[in-house]
Amino acid sequence: MRQSSLINSGKKRVSSILPSELDSGRLPDHIAIIMDGNGRWAKGRGLPRSIGHKQGVEALKKTLRLCDDWGISALTVYAFSTENWSRPGEEVSFLLTLFEHVLQKELESLIEEQVKINFLGDIGVLPDKLKELMKKAIDSTQGNKGIRFNVCTNYGGRRELVFAAKKLALKAVNGELDPNLIDEEIFSNELFTAKETDPDLLIRTSGENRLSNFLLWQLAYSEIHITNVLWPDFDANALKKALLDYQSRLRRFGGV
Ligand code: FPP
Repeated sequence: MRQSSLINSGKKRVSSILPSELDSGRLPDHIAIIMDGNGRWAKGRGLPRSIGHKQGVEALKKTLRLCDDWGISALTVYAFSTENWSRPGEEVSFLLTLFEHVLQKELESLIEEQVKINFLGDIGVLPDKLKELMKKAIDSTQGNKGIRFNVCTNYGGRRELVFAAKKLALKAVNGELDPNLIDEEIFSNELFTAKETDPDLLIRTSGENRLSNFLLWQLAYSEIHITNVLWPDFDANALKKALLDYQSRLRRFGGV
């Protein structure tokens, strides 16, 4: 197991050891998560939804470190979808401001912990301050050799596919690409995830059985684990259960 010499707030962080029930040789390389249930977590406690989102950030920080400690190479999370703009304006503003605060507060730790961060989605329309913080986070972590952490922000699977089709069409019109040569590899190189592997495992919390427009191309052969745990309650035990479920599957990729 990789031992990370992580320093957080001046204190050496104690790495979490992979639970003995899990086979270190059969872990997913890349995990994707639909972090759902922040609102219900808060409602169940008589708290405003914003507190659920804040608690969701804590669950995300814990999960990122657990994945890194347990030897997962990439974590991709659905932080803000193209559909999330339809939430009340107050909640949208809260979420975008929360992302800014988290990036400002956590960047130093991410750098120290060797996390390589990237943002996937239609980033151009986000507030300037958030875009600047995202660029700073990408630039200052690109050389890092630890876990790849992809945050899907203003992401929608359909929009991603339309963007890719448009880019290919433009190349064809400009004479840079013969349309007959377009294959899966050329197509996937136009997606936001061009430099990333496909997820081996998708986890969705809060018991919903939907893809919700998340990584429609990339999840083609991923194993899916749905848990009733609400995202703010997601912890080492919930991650262990997801990995045990994954290890119980036989992946055939369409073969026999
Ligand atoms: C889904 O819960 C959660 C979200 C739409 C936001 C997820 C964001 C975070 C956990 C924060 C991530 C922060 C960074 C910096 C990446 P919901 O509101 O849909 O819950 P509900 O279905 O119970 O209403």
